[in-house]
Amino acid sequence: MKIETSVTRLLGIDLPIAQAGMSWASSGSALPLAVARAGGLGVLAAGPMRLPDLGRAIDEIRAGTDRPFAVNMPLYRQGADEVLDLLAERRIRILIASQGGPKRYLDRFHGVGTICIHVVASEEHALKAADAGVDGLVVVGGEAGGHPPAELVSTLVVVRAVARALGHVPIIASGGFADGCGLAAALALGAGAANFGTRFIATPEANVHAAYKQAVLAAGIASTRTVGQGLGMVRTLANPFTDRMQELEAAGAGLDDRKAVFIASTLKMAALDGDVEWGKVEVGQTVGLVHDLVPAGELVLRIAEEYRTAVAGLPVG
Ligand SMILES: Cc1cc2nc3c(=O)[nH]c(=O)nc-3n(C[C@H](O)[C@H](O)[C@H](O)COP(=O)(O)O)c2cc1C
Repeated sequence: MKIETSVTRLLGIDLPIAQAGMSWASSGSALPLAVARAGGLGVLAAGPMRLPDLGRAIDEIRAGTDRPFAVNMPLYRQGADEVLDLLAERRIRILIASQGGPKRYLDRFHGVGTICIHVVASEEHALKAADAGVDGLVVVGGEAGGHPPAELVSTLVVVRAVARALGHVPIIASGGFADGCGLAAALALGAGAANFGTRFIATPEANVHAAYKQAVLAAGIASTRTVGQGLGMVRTLANPFTDRMQELEAAGAGLDDRKAVFIASTLKMAALDGDVEWGKVEVGQTVGLVHDLVPAGELVLRIAEEYRTAVAGLPVG
């Protein structure tokens, strides 16, 4: 099955379905490999990975498929230079860089033939990245899990704004997508693919604790909170940690007091240890649209089928 768009042509994949780079959840070979095999874009999240583990995961994916996959690289991570060295040495086919500016890596990776995609959460940053010469953009809206844009501008609005401004640049829309209807909406807005994050946490291949997956399956569309304004705000499931942050915010607590609580809670606590009470259970609003645990490859094909049904059902004026 193929659905051709600007993004599938750029990346050489069959379907405009990207599994979002997610620290821990896709920081191992299983999830990106399953998605790549099914014809979508699998994304290995390098954020929390040690160098040898990252090298091994790249080898495992390459051994499992000759289809393209991407590596997501948050440029703020500790030891970022060493990670970039490894990715350049391995001549990875697709780099998806988040945080920081594209000038830091662009020439070097273009020099080894890597397709460079940059993650942005505003029209302004999209214009700058396009100006710098990136090959494509991931455009993140306010619904997204992880780090949504500061002003929480919705995906519906920010993707449309970027597509209007930069019609020639392939866009992967991110935040708010959980099924084929969402994919149809993303393509209608002018994106060439949709990014699915939270949806892929509810797969056997996602590298998170069973308690995290259960929390995803149980949550509703209004179960998330955004906390940590000014501290690297995150969208996570409501839990005692977010309650505490909201209490401090409501009481007008200073940055230092809020920071102490904010940094005591981590994504790792939830993802690896299964502490869904005090950890950051990062998910998007899509969490309320996810009700089943499905093998990732099956999920890719299901989203493609749903897309077809959704598009076929649209009235034509
Ligand atoms: C658990 C989790 C971890 C994430 N980690 C990263 C990351 O390491 N790098 C990154 O660029 N984005 C990260 N994101 C953001 C996703 O790439 C994507 O923008 C987001 O999941 C889209 O929203 P959705 O979850 O509603 O699909 C993360 C999101 C989640 C839910």
